[in-house]
Order: sequence, then structure tokens, then C-alpha cells
Amino acid sequence: MAGEFTAEELALAEPQRPEESTLEAWYMDDSQTDQRLPHKRVPNKPCPLEALRRLGVLSWRLDADRWESDPKLAAIRKVRGYSYTEVITISKDKLPGYEEKIKMFYEEHIHNDEEIRYILDGTGYFDVRDLDDEWIRINCGKGDMIVLPEGIYHRFTLDERDYIKAMRLFVGAPIWTPFNRPQEEHPSRAKYLAAFGGAAVAAA
Ligand SMILES: [Fe+2]
Repeated sequence: MAGEFTAEELALAEPQRPEESTLEAWYMDDSQTDQRLPHKRVPNKPCPLEALRRLGVLSWRLDADRWESDPKLAAIRKVRGYSYTEVITISKDKLPGYEEKIKMFYEEHIHNDEEIRYILDGTGYFDVRDLDDEWIRINCGKGDMIVLPEGIYHRFTLDERDYIKAMRLFVGAPIWTPFNRPQEEHPSRAKYLAAFGGAAVAAA
């Protein structure tokens, strides 16, 4: 497998290491107020990148002003097989059925595949569950690329700025189907727990 790529491509495609992380994440409070608010605990409980990595979440910091010619994005796509891309904009005036879609994105769900997003402009929150069933909120903005592994419980919301422009990537023909929780019998959930359940517990 590694022989198909140059050393440079493999190095460019490496996800962020914890010490170079620019991604801010925190454990959420349990208030039921507007989903677009940060929902930080008092005091704030940050979630370091190591903890996200143990849950299988990967991230990169890219130059969103030159994504069309960025060798780093090209290397990530090549090494990880992300053949499909499309760019979507989520805002009140750009997305038909905005209110319903925002509610749908915020339903806790899993997928049969990775969820891969590259933020080209704007901001938003990806929430993932840890193994104790706590919500971790990941603050994503322009230049952040994030991969949520197959089978992780997650959801998405815009923040109070109500605008994000993101590239969605996929291996092959895209399937965006969400499977709302509970999905304990779903093969992708079992696969996730086999890959990250034990490792995360052992490392805790
Ligand atoms: Fe999703």
C-alpha cells in the first residue's frame, strides 16, 4: 500500500500531531438552550487533540485560500482515496429547507463511512460522543479539515454566525445516509468499538 505513494505524499497526508493542533474542542454542558451557542462548561473543560485521536477523529490545517492548487490537500485525497468532492454552503439564504436541515444535522447519528469535511469559509461545530457518552464539541473554521471515523456517534450545527462553506469528500460514489441513534447492532458501530473502544479505554 505504502509503495503506491511517494514519501513526500505520505508526509503531507499525515494528520496533525497533538503538539501542532490548532483545533479547539471542549466537553459540552447539558443545557438545552440554542444549539448554536458554544455550550462550554463552567469552568471550561477542554478536550485535547490526543483524546480526539483516541476516538478516531483526525484533523489537518490547510490553506483554504488556495485549496484548488494545494499539494497537501491533493496528497491527503490521494493517500486516503478521497476521489469525490463537492462544496456546500449552509446558511439561511443559500440552503433550501434550512431550518429542517439544521435540525436533521443535529440528530445524533452514525454513517457506514467516514465523514470528511474541509471548511473553506465560515464556522461550525462537530459534536462527537466519547466512550463515556459525553459530548465533545469541536470548533471548526476556515482551513480545518476533519475526519470522523465510520460508526462514531456525532452531529453538526452551525454557530451563531449561521454560515459555513465546506467541502464534502468521499471514497467513491457518495452516500450521506445518517443512521440515527440507537444503532448498537449496526455493523459500523461494532466496527468502531472494535477499532477505538478498547484502545481508548486502555489509554485512559
Ligand atoms: Fe454525519
